[in-house]
Amino acid sequence: MYKMNPDYLLGLELMDTQHQHLFQLMEDVQALLEDENLLYKDEELIEILQGLRDYIKMHFGEEIALMESLDYPRLQLHIKAHNEFIEKVNSFEIDAEKISLRTQDKMIYDLMEYLKEWLKVHILDCDRKVIRFMNGEKITAED
Ligand SMILES: [Fe+2]
Repeated sequence: MYKMNPDYLLGLELMDTQHQHLFQLMEDVQALLEDENLLYKDEELIEILQGLRDYIKMHFGEEIALMESLDYPRLQLHIKAHNEFIEKVNSFEIDAEKISLRTQDKMIYDLMEYLKEWLKVHILDCDRKVIRFMNGEKITAED
C-alpha cells in the first residue's frame, strides 16, 4: 500500500488532493503487480497508464497555471521536470504494447519504482519550492 505519507502534504488543497489521486493510481499499479488471478496484465497496465497520462496532463496544467499566476521564477525547470515525466510515461505506454508473460511483472515493478521515486523527488523538492515561494522565500530560476 502506498498511501500518501503526511510528509507529502504541502498545505495547498488543490495540489494535495491531486497528489493524493496520483498515489491512488500508484496503488492500482501495485495491485496489478500483486494480482495472481490475472494471467495477461497488458490491457490493465495500458488502462492504468492512459489514466495516469490523462490525469497528469490536467494536474500539470493546473500547477503551471498556478506558477504562472505567481510569476514563479523557477517555472522553466519545473516544466522540464514535468516533460521528462510525460516522456517516461509515454515510453512505458509504448513498451506496454509489447510485453509478454515473462516481462510484464518486471515492467510493472519498474513503473512502480519510477512513480514512487519521481513523486517523492518532485513533490518534496520541486512542488514544495512553489509553496516556499508563496510563503515569501526567495527562489531563483536556477534553484
Ligand atoms: Fe509539479
